[in-house]
Amino acid sequence: MLNLQTVPTPFPIEDYLRRVSARVDGHLQRLGGEWKRAGPPRLAEALEYALLGGGKRLRPALVLAACEALGGDSGDDGLAMRFALALEMIHTYSLVHDDLPCMDDDELRRGRPTVHKAYDEATAMLVGDGLQSLAFRHLLATRDPRAAALAALLAENAWRMVEGQALDIGAEGRALSEREVLELMAAKTGALITAAVVGGAIAATGSASGLEPVGQMLGLAFQIADDLLDLTGDAATLGKRVGKDEAAGKATLPSLVGVDEARRRANTACDAALESLESLGGPAEALRALARFVVTRRR
Ligand code: IPE
Ligand code: IPE
Ligand code: MG
Ligand code: MG
Ligand code: MG
Repeated sequence: MLNLQTVPTPFPIEDYLRRVSARVDGHLQRLGGEWKRAGPPRLAEALEYALLGGGKRLRPALVLAACEALGGDSGDDGLAMRFALALEMIHTYSLVHDDLPCMDDDELRRGRPTVHKAYDEATAMLVGDGLQSLAFRHLLATRDPRAAALAALLAENAWRMVEGQALDIGAEGRALSEREVLELMAAKTGALITAAVVGGAIAATGSASGLEPVGQMLGLAFQIADDLLDLTGDAATLGKRVGKDEAAGKATLPSLVGVDEARRRANTACDAALESLESLGGPAEALRALARFVVTRRR
Protein backbone atom coordinates (compact mmCIF):
# COMPACT_ATOMS: atom_id res chain seq x y z
CA MET A 1 0.00 0.00 0.00
CA LEU A 2 1.14 3.53 -0.73
CA ASN A 3 2.40 5.36 2.34
CA LEU A 4 0.97 8.83 1.76
CA GLN A 5 3.17 10.39 4.43
CA THR A 6 6.32 9.75 2.40
CA VAL A 7 4.89 10.80 -0.98
CA PRO A 8 5.56 14.53 -1.36
CA THR A 9 2.59 16.49 -2.71
CA PRO A 10 3.65 18.12 -5.98
CA PHE A 11 3.62 21.92 -5.78
CA PRO A 12 0.59 23.28 -7.68
CA ILE A 13 2.67 25.39 -10.04
CA GLU A 14 -0.13 26.07 -12.54
CA ASP A 15 -2.29 27.44 -9.68
CA TYR A 16 0.61 29.58 -8.49
CA LEU A 17 1.13 31.00 -12.00
CA ARG A 18 -2.60 31.61 -12.38
CA ARG A 19 -2.70 33.55 -9.11
CA VAL A 20 0.34 35.64 -10.07
CA SER A 21 -1.16 36.30 -13.53
CA ALA A 22 -4.45 37.48 -12.05
CA ARG A 23 -2.66 39.87 -9.69
CA VAL A 24 -0.30 41.16 -12.41
CA ASP A 25 -3.15 41.60 -14.89
CA GLY A 26 -5.15 43.55 -12.31
CA HIS A 27 -2.27 45.98 -11.73
CA LEU A 28 -1.52 46.35 -15.45
CA GLN A 29 -5.19 46.96 -16.20
CA ARG A 30 -5.25 49.78 -13.65
CA LEU A 31 -2.04 51.31 -15.08
CA GLY A 32 -3.39 50.90 -18.63
CA GLY A 33 -6.50 52.84 -17.59
CA GLU A 34 -4.29 55.69 -16.34
CA TRP A 35 -2.32 55.80 -19.61
CA LYS A 36 -5.58 55.81 -21.55
CA ARG A 37 -6.85 58.85 -19.70
CA ALA A 38 -3.62 60.74 -20.35
CA GLY A 39 -2.13 59.73 -23.72
CA PRO A 40 -2.93 59.39 -27.43
CA PRO A 41 -5.80 56.85 -27.50
CA ARG A 42 -4.40 54.59 -30.23
CA LEU A 43 -1.02 54.26 -28.47
CA ALA A 44 -2.68 53.65 -25.10
CA GLU A 45 -4.90 50.99 -26.68
CA ALA A 46 -1.92 49.27 -28.31
CA LEU A 47 -0.03 49.35 -24.98
CA GLU A 48 -2.93 47.55 -23.34
CA TYR A 49 -3.16 45.10 -26.23
CA ALA A 50 0.53 44.22 -25.82
CA LEU A 51 0.50 44.00 -22.03
CA LEU A 52 -2.80 42.25 -21.42
CA GLY A 53 -2.73 39.68 -24.20
CA GLY A 54 -1.82 36.70 -22.03
CA GLY A 55 1.71 35.51 -21.42
CA LYS A 56 2.88 33.18 -18.67
CA ARG A 57 4.01 36.00 -16.35
CA LEU A 58 6.99 33.82 -15.49
CA ARG A 59 9.30 36.74 -14.68
CA PRO A 60 6.86 38.34 -12.21
CA ALA A 61 6.36 34.88 -10.66
CA LEU A 62 10.13 34.47 -10.29
CA VAL A 63 10.42 37.91 -8.65
CA LEU A 64 7.69 37.13 -6.13
CA ALA A 65 8.85 33.57 -5.45
CA ALA A 66 12.47 34.69 -4.93
CA CYS A 67 11.23 37.37 -2.54
CA GLU A 68 9.12 34.80 -0.65
CA ALA A 69 12.06 32.37 -0.53
CA LEU A 70 14.02 34.98 1.44
CA GLY A 71 11.15 35.92 3.75
CA GLY A 72 10.27 39.18 2.00
CA ASP A 73 6.93 40.88 1.34
CA SER A 74 5.47 39.67 -1.97
CA GLY A 75 2.15 41.44 -1.42
CA ASP A 76 0.37 43.74 -3.83
CA ASP A 77 1.69 46.94 -2.25
CA GLY A 78 5.27 45.76 -1.81
CA LEU A 79 8.42 46.64 -3.72
CA ALA A 80 8.67 43.11 -5.18
CA MET A 81 5.33 43.52 -6.99
CA ARG A 82 6.37 46.98 -8.18
CA PHE A 83 9.57 45.51 -9.63
CA ALA A 84 7.69 42.51 -11.08
CA LEU A 85 5.40 44.84 -13.05
CA ALA A 86 8.30 46.96 -14.32
CA LEU A 87 10.15 43.83 -15.43
CA GLU A 88 7.09 42.46 -17.24
CA MET A 89 6.82 45.79 -19.09
CA ILE A 90 10.45 45.52 -20.20
CA HIS A 91 9.93 41.87 -21.22
CA THR A 92 6.79 42.80 -23.18
CA TYR A 93 8.65 45.59 -24.95
CA SER A 94 11.36 43.07 -25.90
CA LEU A 95 8.72 40.76 -27.42
CA VAL A 96 6.96 43.55 -29.36
CA HIS A 97 10.27 44.63 -30.91
CA ASP A 98 11.48 41.02 -31.37
CA ASP A 99 8.42 40.34 -33.54
CA LEU A 100 8.91 43.33 -35.87
CA PRO A 101 9.58 42.59 -39.56
CA CYS A 102 13.13 43.97 -39.20
CA MET A 103 13.79 41.45 -36.37
CA ASP A 104 12.11 38.00 -36.31
CA ASP A 105 9.15 39.03 -38.47
CA ASP A 106 6.45 37.15 -36.53
CA GLU A 107 2.71 37.44 -36.93
CA LEU A 108 1.53 35.54 -33.88
CA ARG A 109 2.30 36.21 -30.21
CA ARG A 110 0.51 35.02 -27.08
CA GLY A 111 -2.12 33.49 -29.35
CA ARG A 112 -2.99 36.75 -31.13
CA PRO A 113 -1.68 38.88 -33.99
CA THR A 114 1.54 40.66 -33.04
CA VAL A 115 1.28 44.37 -32.23
CA HIS A 116 2.55 45.51 -35.63
CA LYS A 117 -0.07 43.28 -37.30
CA ALA A 118 -2.95 44.37 -35.09
CA TYR A 119 -1.88 48.02 -35.37
CA ASP A 120 1.11 49.05 -37.51
CA GLU A 121 4.91 49.06 -37.34
CA ALA A 122 5.27 52.62 -36.09
CA THR A 123 2.81 51.92 -33.26
CA ALA A 124 4.65 48.70 -32.34
CA MET A 125 7.93 50.59 -32.17
CA LEU A 126 6.37 53.25 -29.98
CA VAL A 127 4.73 50.65 -27.73
CA GLY A 128 8.17 49.18 -27.06
CA ASP A 129 9.76 52.60 -26.54
CA GLY A 130 6.89 53.62 -24.29
CA LEU A 131 6.96 50.46 -22.18
CA GLN A 132 10.63 51.03 -21.49
CA SER A 133 10.00 54.49 -20.04
CA LEU A 134 6.81 53.46 -18.26
CA ALA A 135 8.61 50.55 -16.59
CA PHE A 136 11.15 52.84 -14.94
CA ARG A 137 8.56 55.47 -14.11
CA HIS A 138 6.47 52.86 -12.32
CA LEU A 139 9.44 51.30 -10.52
CA LEU A 140 10.64 54.66 -9.21
CA ALA A 141 7.23 55.98 -8.13
CA THR A 142 7.93 55.06 -4.51
CA ARG A 143 9.97 56.45 -1.63
CA ASP A 144 11.42 52.99 -0.88
CA PRO A 145 15.22 53.51 -0.91
CA ARG A 146 15.80 50.08 -2.50
CA ALA A 147 13.98 51.19 -5.68
CA ALA A 148 17.17 52.84 -6.97
CA ALA A 149 19.14 49.58 -6.70
CA LEU A 150 16.32 47.77 -8.51
CA ALA A 151 16.27 50.41 -11.26
CA ALA A 152 20.03 49.97 -11.73
CA LEU A 153 19.55 46.19 -11.92
CA LEU A 154 16.75 46.56 -14.47
CA ALA A 155 18.67 49.06 -16.62
CA GLU A 156 21.77 46.87 -16.68
CA ASN A 157 19.87 43.73 -17.66
CA ALA A 158 17.55 45.43 -20.16
CA TRP A 159 20.70 46.68 -21.89
CA ARG A 160 22.16 43.15 -21.80
CA MET A 161 18.98 41.90 -23.43
CA VAL A 162 19.49 44.43 -26.24
CA GLU A 163 23.11 43.30 -26.65
CA GLY A 164 21.87 39.71 -26.86
CA GLN A 165 19.28 40.62 -29.48
CA ALA A 166 22.03 42.28 -31.52
CA LEU A 167 24.13 39.09 -31.26
CA ASP A 168 21.07 37.00 -32.25
CA ILE A 169 20.31 39.08 -35.33
CA GLY A 170 23.99 39.29 -36.28
CA ALA A 171 24.31 35.50 -36.06
CA GLU A 172 21.53 34.69 -38.54
CA GLY A 173 22.89 32.33 -41.16
CA ARG A 174 26.32 32.24 -39.52
CA ALA A 175 27.93 29.32 -37.67
CA LEU A 176 28.69 30.35 -34.09
CA SER A 177 30.88 28.48 -31.64
CA GLU A 178 29.22 26.94 -28.61
CA ARG A 179 30.75 29.63 -26.42
CA GLU A 180 29.23 32.33 -28.62
CA VAL A 181 25.78 30.71 -28.59
CA LEU A 182 25.88 30.44 -24.79
CA GLU A 183 26.84 34.12 -24.50
CA LEU A 184 24.01 35.11 -26.88
CA MET A 185 21.47 33.13 -24.79
CA ALA A 186 22.75 34.47 -21.49
CA ALA A 187 22.33 38.01 -22.80
CA LYS A 188 19.09 37.98 -24.80
CA THR A 189 17.12 35.87 -22.30
CA GLY A 190 19.29 35.09 -19.27
CA ALA A 191 19.63 38.75 -18.35
CA LEU A 192 15.92 39.41 -17.68
CA ILE A 193 15.44 36.04 -15.94
CA THR A 194 18.46 36.80 -13.73
CA ALA A 195 17.03 40.26 -13.03
CA ALA A 196 13.79 38.59 -11.90
CA VAL A 197 15.44 36.32 -9.35
CA VAL A 198 17.96 38.91 -8.13
CA GLY A 199 15.29 41.64 -8.04
CA GLY A 200 13.11 39.48 -5.79
CA ALA A 201 16.11 38.95 -3.51
CA ILE A 202 16.92 42.68 -3.37
CA ALA A 203 13.31 43.53 -2.59
CA ALA A 204 13.44 41.05 0.29
CA THR A 205 16.91 41.59 1.74
CA GLY A 206 18.59 44.54 0.02
CA SER A 207 21.12 42.28 -1.75
CA ALA A 208 21.29 39.47 -4.33
CA SER A 209 21.70 37.03 -1.42
CA GLY A 210 23.62 34.55 -3.57
CA LEU A 211 20.75 34.05 -6.05
CA GLU A 212 22.48 35.46 -9.15
CA PRO A 213 23.83 32.05 -10.32
CA VAL A 214 20.34 30.59 -9.86
CA GLY A 215 18.95 33.26 -12.22
CA GLN A 216 21.70 32.59 -14.75
CA MET A 217 21.11 28.84 -14.74
CA LEU A 218 17.36 29.28 -15.09
CA GLY A 219 17.87 31.80 -17.90
CA LEU A 220 19.97 29.30 -19.83
CA ALA A 221 17.49 26.48 -19.18
CA PHE A 222 14.60 28.74 -20.21
CA GLN A 223 16.08 29.69 -23.60
CA ILE A 224 17.10 26.08 -24.36
CA ALA A 225 13.49 25.09 -23.62
CA ASP A 226 12.25 27.91 -25.89
CA ASP A 227 14.51 26.69 -28.71
CA LEU A 228 13.38 23.08 -28.16
CA LEU A 229 9.72 24.13 -28.18
CA ASP A 230 10.33 25.89 -31.50
CA LEU A 231 11.46 22.50 -32.85
CA THR A 232 9.09 20.12 -31.08
CA GLY A 233 6.29 22.23 -29.59
CA ASP A 234 2.74 22.97 -30.63
CA ALA A 235 1.89 26.42 -32.04
CA ALA A 236 -1.63 26.45 -30.58
CA THR A 237 -0.33 25.73 -27.05
CA LEU A 238 2.62 28.12 -27.40
CA GLY A 239 0.59 30.90 -28.97
CA LYS A 240 3.40 31.59 -31.43
CA ARG A 241 4.70 30.12 -34.65
CA VAL A 242 7.02 27.09 -34.46
CA GLY A 243 9.83 25.96 -36.77
CA LYS A 244 10.87 29.56 -37.30
CA ASP A 245 14.41 29.37 -35.90
CA GLU A 246 15.68 26.90 -38.49
CA ALA A 247 13.94 28.80 -41.29
CA ALA A 248 15.63 32.04 -40.18
CA GLY A 249 19.03 30.38 -39.71
CA LYS A 250 19.07 31.23 -35.98
CA ALA A 251 22.05 30.22 -33.85
CA THR A 252 20.54 27.96 -31.17
CA LEU A 253 21.97 25.32 -28.87
CA PRO A 254 19.79 22.49 -30.29
CA SER A 255 20.98 23.36 -33.81
CA LEU A 256 24.57 23.08 -32.58
CA VAL A 257 24.52 20.04 -30.28
CA GLY A 258 21.25 18.30 -31.20
CA VAL A 259 17.89 18.03 -29.45
CA ASP A 260 18.81 15.32 -26.92
CA GLU A 261 22.02 16.98 -25.78
CA ALA A 262 20.30 20.37 -25.55
CA ARG A 263 17.56 18.85 -23.39
CA ARG A 264 20.22 17.27 -21.18
CA ARG A 265 21.92 20.67 -20.77
CA ALA A 266 18.63 22.34 -19.82
CA ASN A 267 17.97 19.66 -17.20
CA THR A 268 21.51 19.97 -15.83
CA ALA A 269 21.13 23.74 -15.48
CA CYS A 270 17.76 23.27 -13.76
CA ASP A 271 19.22 20.66 -11.37
CA ALA A 272 22.08 23.01 -10.48
CA ALA A 273 19.57 25.77 -9.70
CA LEU A 274 17.52 23.36 -7.55
CA GLU A 275 20.62 22.31 -5.65
CA SER A 276 21.49 25.93 -4.88
CA LEU A 277 17.96 26.50 -3.59
CA GLU A 278 17.84 23.42 -1.37
CA SER A 279 19.23 25.15 1.69
CA LEU A 280 16.44 27.76 1.61
CA GLY A 281 13.95 25.05 2.60
CA GLY A 282 10.17 25.42 2.66
CA PRO A 283 9.90 29.14 1.80
CA ALA A 284 11.67 28.41 -1.52
CA GLU A 285 9.15 25.76 -2.57
CA ALA A 286 7.47 27.98 -5.19
CA LEU A 287 10.82 29.09 -6.60
CA ARG A 288 11.96 25.45 -6.93
CA ALA A 289 8.67 24.57 -8.63
CA LEU A 290 9.17 27.45 -11.07
CA ALA A 291 12.68 26.15 -11.79
CA ARG A 292 11.20 22.76 -12.70
CA PHE A 293 8.46 24.44 -14.77
CA VAL A 294 11.13 26.21 -16.85
CA VAL A 295 12.25 22.87 -18.34
CA THR A 296 9.00 20.86 -18.25
CA ARG A 297 6.70 23.52 -19.72
CA ARG A 298 4.82 23.03 -22.99
CA ARG A 299 3.96 26.75 -23.35
C1 IPE B 1 9.50 34.44 -24.78
O1 IPE B 1 9.33 34.57 -23.40
C2 IPE B 1 10.74 35.12 -25.21
C3 IPE B 1 11.97 34.49 -24.76
C4 IPE B 1 12.79 35.09 -23.97
C5 IPE B 1 12.31 33.19 -25.22
P1 IPE B 1 8.11 33.89 -22.66
O2 IPE B 1 7.98 32.45 -23.13
O3 IPE B 1 8.24 34.07 -21.20
O4 IPE B 1 6.86 34.69 -23.23
P2 IPE B 1 5.46 35.02 -22.56
O5 IPE B 1 5.69 36.21 -21.67
O6 IPE B 1 4.98 33.82 -21.79
O7 IPE B 1 4.57 35.35 -23.71
C1 IPE C 1 13.61 36.30 -27.83
O1 IPE C 1 14.12 35.11 -28.28
C2 IPE C 1 14.39 36.92 -26.78
C3 IPE C 1 13.94 38.29 -26.53
C4 IPE C 1 14.74 39.15 -26.02
C5 IPE C 1 12.58 38.73 -26.85
P1 IPE C 1 13.21 34.46 -29.40
O2 IPE C 1 13.18 35.29 -30.62
O3 IPE C 1 13.60 33.03 -29.56
O4 IPE C 1 11.77 34.50 -28.69
P2 IPE C 1 10.42 34.00 -29.38
O5 IPE C 1 10.63 32.55 -29.72
O6 IPE C 1 10.17 34.87 -30.56
O7 IPE C 1 9.40 34.16 -28.27
MG1 MG D 1 14.38 36.72 -31.51
MG1 MG E 1 11.42 35.78 -31.84
MG1 MG F 1 12.24 31.37 -29.69
